[in-house]
Amino acid sequence: MSDCTKCRGAGVNRREFLATSSALAITAVLAACGSDSEEGSSMTGPRNVNATVTLANYAALGTVGGIAVISGAGTPIAVVRASATQYRAFSLICPHAGTTVSISGAGFRCSNHGATFNGSGAWTGGERTTGLFEFTVASNTTAGTITITS
Ligand code: FES
Repeated sequence: MSDCTKCRGAGVNRREFLATSSALAITAVLAACGSDSEEGSSMTGPRNVNATVTLANYAALGTVGGIAVISGAGTPIAVVRASATQYRAFSLICPHAGTTVSISGAGFRCSNHGATFNGSGAWTGGERTTGLFEFTVASNTTAGTITITS
């Protein structure tokens, strides 16, 4: 039985209390990790994105290495022109705590805690986190468009 005068008579000893508390804490952590509602998570990312982008509307995508924030996708997305024929699309939702990251040089920077990401979406510095969520991109060279899906 507990030595604590406040716990005496409650029917819970110190060992039982610690075991129950630990189980509850583990359950809470597992519930948080199992959540797939965190937009921008590198594990799940934004859902139901299906956006077609006309490349000519974004001058920055006219050159390799160019980055443009696209509009109309329902979630902040940046498109990177990775090569003459390849485009990549990343969620601009910071995987650390959900702030919208901005274009910074050839990559991205989060103004909230300073995480930085390169043009491939990989974390490069600042607050430690994962890389930016990458969408699937399909090109239609005839139409001059790309379609971004999650
Ligand atoms: S929310 Fe982006 S670094 Fe913390």
